[in-house]
Amino acid sequence: MRLLKRSWLCLLLKLAIAVGSLSLVFLVSQLNTDWAPGFTHKYSWLEYTADVGGPEKGCNCSAILQGDWKALERAKILTITKDVRKSIQIPDDYYINATTDCRSFKLRRKYIMFPLSKEEEDFPLAFSIIVHHKVQNFERLLRAIYVPQNIYCVHVDKKSKASVSSAISAIASFFPNVFLVSQADNVVYAGWPRVQADLNCMADLYNASTKWKYFINLCGQDFPLKTNLEMVRMLRALRGGNSLESESFPPEKKWRVSYVHQIINGGIQRTNKTKDPPPFNLPIMSGNAYIVVSRGYVRSVLKDRRIHALIEWSKDTYSPDEHLWATIQRVPGVPGSKWPHRKYDMSDLNAIARLVKWEAHEGLEDSMGAVYPECKGTHVRQICVYGAGDLQWLLEHNHLFANKFDVDTDPIAIFCLEKYLRQKALAD
Ligand SMILES: *[C@@H]1O[C@H](CO)[C@@H](O)[C@H](O)[C@H]1NC(C)=O
Ligand SMILES: *[C@@H]1O[C@H](CO)[C@@H](O)[C@H](O)[C@H]1NC(C)=O
Ligand SMILES: *[C@@H]1O[C@H](CO)[C@@H](O)[C@H](O)[C@H]1NC(C)=O
Repeated sequence: MRLLKRSWLCLLLKLAIAVGSLSLVFLVSQLNTDWAPGFTHKYSWLEYTADVGGPEKGCNCSAILQGDWKALERAKILTITKDVRKSIQIPDDYYINATTDCRSFKLRRKYIMFPLSKEEEDFPLAFSIIVHHKVQNFERLLRAIYVPQNIYCVHVDKKSKASVSSAISAIASFFPNVFLVSQADNVVYAGWPRVQADLNCMADLYNASTKWKYFINLCGQDFPLKTNLEMVRMLRALRGGNSLESESFPPEKKWRVSYVHQIINGGIQRTNKTKDPPPFNLPIMSGNAYIVVSRGYVRSVLKDRRIHALIEWSKDTYSPDEHLWATIQRVPGVPGSKWPHRKYDMSDLNAIARLVKWEAHEGLEDSMGAVYPECKGTHVRQICVYGAGDLQWLLEHNHLFANKFDVDTDPIAIFCLEKYLRQKALAD
């Protein structure tokens, strides 16, 4: 490559001596635009085309994103056809085998391998991704958020199937800036290890690079609603603030933090023992597991002694992920935090971290209790697994990510969303 470039330069030089120095300037500038992909304006080879996405080519994504019911009906029928069902089955082996030719994997899957703008290059992000199954969802998510200037820590549950952890290690090995967490845990639903997994990634990310500006935690069934550039712009607009759910603690959930809990046989159980009040009389707030926080917030989590005490105190509470981050967000002096007064309370719908549809809050717009329209996909643990019919609603929001998506439930929802994001990323 370099040899070729040099011989080209030689040729050009000779040519230039002949035609005069003015044309040399012109030719060299031409050469520059041809050789450095970062300076061209069209990256059409990075567009997702129907053959890359497979059999979803029969659906009209732009109509689907506009909520066109005819296109949605067609997509629904397509989803249950044999061809589509078959094509979405990708065995874990496939990723393990791909390690023999990682270059071609990245090309075929159209990963973005250079920063699309200086603005993004100057504002790297750090991600923690917690996974335990469904490797394809993970790979689709990674591909949607991957850029070379960001950094990604992946925590694979210790009790995952061997093929799942091998496939995910294989995918991580393709990229210098994607790594497996140094210390993996057995994640227990609603238990402390779920938080510990994020803490381990936080520590690794903090130590691995001093450059990143914001931390975002994800699980394998999240998907972005924004391009990397849009995320960077929205994060810069936070001016150092954090964006996560943090509200006063509902009295009906007080038991979660007033009784000692323990993990027995992979499940969490409440004991009769009452807990001491929280350290430093910190007001316990309510929130969720997903956060968008500054590097300074992460530094406090790792180094502030008040937060260290809070972490220790939280270890035997129920679902600490749903109050720890929210509480830290109101601790005085934590970078990007807010005062504890309830005027600063922030709901999940106003924070940009995660858009989730809870079954209990779904309903018609004119019904008093409803927060959002009905889920167009299916429910898992009272949370909507989005269908293509939810996309229009999702994209009306400011959130950076939405939860949950599943290729097995609705491959077209993911297909249309990733296509939309890629087109946007290449057009901006
Ligand atoms: C897809 O839908 C859009 C918007 O409804 C429409 O303009 C376009 O013609 C449709 N494309 C195809 C191939 O049907
Ligand atoms: C992976 O490679 C093994 C051994 O070469 C082969 O038996 C298997 O079919 C391959 N799996 C996939 C999904 O390509
Ligand atoms: C940080 O990383 C270095 C290697 O890059 C390692 O030696 C050190 O132990 C790490 N520190 C922590 C606190 O993990």
